[in-house]
Amino acid sequence: MNKSILFFSLFFLLAVQGQANEAPSLSLGKTLFESTELGSKGKSCQTCHSQGKGLDMIGDFNDEELKDIINACLRDALGGKLISVESQEMVALLAYVRKFQKR
Ligand code: HEC
Repeated sequence: MNKSILFFSLFFLLAVQGQANEAPSLSLGKTLFESTELGSKGKSCQTCHSQGKGLDMIGDFNDEELKDIINACLRDALGGKLISVESQEMVALLAYVRKFQKR
């Protein structure tokens, strides 16, 4: 097969797969953000951060800092357990809150 055809097919496959990976993460993030099951206080992230309230300035934080802040809210605001910064759940929550970032 012609090399450039092979290259573009591969690129196309990777691009499609990249999109497929992104969508579930955001929908998982939304589910978690709205879930009252993460903690013991009957609250969700949404309870305090409705429509991204208080989250528009998170551009000031890098991903590692933001994961720590999310864990702090999980533990203190929700009365829940910390989640691993490597976990799919944390990656999904991070991706979801980034949508509210204004700058
Ligand atoms: C009981 C209310 C409450 C709940 C529930 C809550 N938070 Fe927060 N959150 C706060 C407060 C208060 C701050 C710090 C003050 C601020 O910046 O608004 C904050 C700050 C943050 C920040 C940093 C914003 C910044 O610019 O300083 C992020 C990100 C965040 N919360 C995410 C979450 C996520 C994700 C959840 C759910 C796991 C959650 N919060 C649940 C009250 C809450």
